[in-house]
Amino acid sequence: MRSCLVVPLLLPLILAAGSDVTGEEANRKPNFVLIMADDLGIGDVGCYGNDTIRTPNIDRLASDGVRLTQHISAAPLCTPSRAAFMTGRYPLRSGLGSIGRAEVLLFLGGSGGLPPSETTFAKRLQQQGYNTGLVGKWHLGVNCEHRGDHCHHPNQHGFSYFYGLPFTLFNDCMPGEGTNHPGRPSGRTATNGRYSGSWTFHTGVCPCVRPPGTPPVAPGCTFLIKYLSNCCVPMTLETLPQRLLGEAQNFIRRNSNGPFLLFFSLVHVHTPLFNTPAFAGKSRHGRYGDNVEEMDWLIGQLTETVDSLGLANDTLMYFTSDHGGHVEDADSRVGQKGGWNSIYKGGKAMGGWEGGIRVPGIFRWPGRLAAGRVVDEPTSLMDLYPTLKYLAEDTQPDRHLDGHNLMPLLEGRVKRSEHEFMFHYCGIYLHAVRWHPPGSEFPHTQTCSTS
Ligand SMILES: *[C@@H]1O[C@H](CO)[C@@H](O)[C@H](O)[C@H]1NC(C)=O
Ligand SMILES: *[C@@H]1O[C@H](CO)[C@@H](O)[C@H](O)[C@H]1NC(C)=O
Repeated sequence: MRSCLVVPLLLPLILAAGSDVTGEEANRKPNFVLIMADDLGIGDVGCYGNDTIRTPNIDRLASDGVRLTQHISAAPLCTPSRAAFMTGRYPLRSGLGSIGRAEVLLFLGGSGGLPPSETTFAKRLQQQGYNTGLVGKWHLGVNCEHRGDHCHHPNQHGFSYFYGLPFTLFNDCMPGEGTNHPGRPSGRTATNGRYSGSWTFHTGVCPCVRPPGTPPVAPGCTFLIKYLSNCCVPMTLETLPQRLLGEAQNFIRRNSNGPFLLFFSLVHVHTPLFNTPAFAGKSRHGRYGDNVEEMDWLIGQLTETVDSLGLANDTLMYFTSDHGGHVEDADSRVGQKGGWNSIYKGGKAMGGWEGGIRVPGIFRWPGRLAAGRVVDEPTSLMDLYPTLKYLAEDTQPDRHLDGHNLMPLLEGRVKRSEHEFMFHYCGIYLHAVRWHPPGSEFPHTQTCSTS
């Protein structure tokens, strides 16, 4: 069956009044604090219309800055979306569009990942003299040929500092939460021709977060551990949010003379859902809501760090989610476990449906961006790469990028996004195209799905 829907999105163009703010120190290169949530739905955030969940810190970033209403991830799943975010190009181009059923890296010990030949915005900024740090989740691979070659590691991709999870949170990390690996690991992940199935395991790949003082896991970290517990043992989940926050804050303090890039890649709100005492049972949406509110608190703490160091006017802060919420994830014990995508159909892992790819997008930069602007034009997570390059005054030759510099839109210098077409893939298969015809007032979404 083949169906074709043409959905005109009659969104009024709301451009907040306000002239451009000119930075006092126009010549100084700005710092960047990029915050990415994991699996958060656009409907989970107050400033995107949720009136029962408390996200005051994210809402404040939006009211102090620019909020994008049509911000789109390149894929509805972690690995390909993050690859596109980091490289400014569709995941297909880096070999991270999947050809099989599993569309993300599923095993820490697998050989797949972001190819060493790829260029990330972190690499470009590093070449421009930035101190670059990643705190939190990576999920773009670790090793190629053998344990310890670290060919896909963040250090090889432009981050001189990395503290966090090379992989992702997995249900297997929390006793009693079940597994993300039902049955045998047969998933073929599109990883540059390699499989990340069981036969490519390299033992001993556990450069994970460890509580201070605990010994490294290798050589006991064997196939079995990785298969049963991809999350790396030991990992104390209860203290993980605090430890990641502390590392992110310290990175900013250490580099406050700038310029720096911090990518704070949250482990929230992916399952297993945290049960931190300060937030447990506090929200109106069960454990999922508690996690969203804890995440918002972390963002508030990090913002406070930037502000208290007097860096606000020199720092572009960005908040997004890697893709939409996992709408189907729920059980009778916990209730809702995945995010809420508001009016948008579909969610995580669902091809070109809007709910899987439309995410929050917020920029705050008091020295440069007018407060309270709302932009309804189509924009992409892939736009970060050219935007950061532009702001870092990187004019060196580069490959073809699929993103566009967002500064003209964010500053209100132009009204139209440069995206005429956006392609929405399920793995390597094109599912939908978003068409924003030149001269048209309203973006149109044209969805063609085959089932
Ligand atoms: C707010 O978010 C919660 C948690 O995802 C969700 O259950 C609820 O439906 C949302 N409410 C609205 C009005 O979007
Ligand atoms: C930050 O920028 C705003 C807007 O230009 C300005 O009003 C404010 O004084 C600046 N703050 C500092 C600390 O420079």
